[in-house]
Amino acid sequence: MSAAAPFRVLPRPFLKWAGGKSRLIEQYQPYFPQTFTTYYEPFLGGGAVFFYLTQQHPSLQAILTDINPELINTYCCVRDRVEELILLLEEHQLEHSKHEQNYYYWVRSHSYKTDIEKAARLIYLNKTCYNGLYRENSKGEFNVPIGRYKTPKICQPDLLRSVSLVLKPAQIKVRKFDRVLDFANSSEDFVYFDPPYYPISSTSNFTAYSRENFKESEQIQLRDVFAELIERQVKVIQSNSHCAFIENLYSDERAFQVDRLPKLRQISASRGINSNSCKRGKISEFLITSV
Ligand SMILES: C[S@@+](CC[C@H](N)C(=O)[O-])C[C@H]1O[C@@H](n2cnc3c(N)ncnc32)[C@H](O)[C@@H]1O
Repeated sequence: MSAAAPFRVLPRPFLKWAGGKSRLIEQYQPYFPQTFTTYYEPFLGGGAVFFYLTQQHPSLQAILTDINPELINTYCCVRDRVEELILLLEEHQLEHSKHEQNYYYWVRSHSYKTDIEKAARLIYLNKTCYNGLYRENSKGEFNVPIGRYKTPKICQPDLLRSVSLVLKPAQIKVRKFDRVLDFANSSEDFVYFDPPYYPISSTSNFTAYSRENFKESEQIQLRDVFAELIERQVKVIQSNSHCAFIENLYSDERAFQVDRLPKLRQISASRGINSNSCKRGKISEFLITSV
């Protein structure tokens, strides 16, 4: 492991994202592999695990992908055009401080033309919307109301610069998760999957990060990708909900060779995003590991 990176601010998620893993990483840490060359995060979201790993491996080679094109465009702009982005966010910060509600709803309804403007819009809305919840309606429009923040941190220049630095060596692409099989093929590869969780109750089925929901058939496809990666000796970890459906999928001896069955470990988590604060209690989750 390398010495600590010379950052003014340590890289960490610059977006608040549903299902963000920042609070769980301490529990995951013992299961991260000690050695690997390339890191893959196929359900990138806020990228909490990626940023955590870069604190120990500042020039980590990573392939970061997600199905959400607006999200991926934002990461690419942070990596490639961070100073321009900071200027646009400073403008948003100023306008928001003057007109708040009117400005928020104007930006929300406005469709920007350039990639950099779209990235600034996503960060602005993410920092000011209700609960930092990214949600699109059936037409693919962002439809979350304004949140209640006194002084939202819309522009965080030091954080964005530090994130930009660690993103430099990364490949960042719009991809469905199964495309990880195009590249990950040896014990030098480490894949962390953080899919939309299998719903465990009618109140916990938040899977609509984008227009396409994550269905049972995709959980099964993900299990098959997981099994294929194990066959290729890739180191694999996945977060998912603690329920019989997931337990059965990953204990199925028809999908995994008997000596390569993954391990299901129980992690204790608190439910963060729920509009009803009474339903934000402790729950337990699975961490599924290939070793
Ligand atoms: C639980 S979030 C990831 C949270 C992230 N690990 C973090 O720390 O913020 C799930 C992500 O999967 C993405 N996603 C949903 N369906 C997908 C698919 N079929 N392929 C790839 N990404 C998908 C969503 O856009 C969302 O960003």
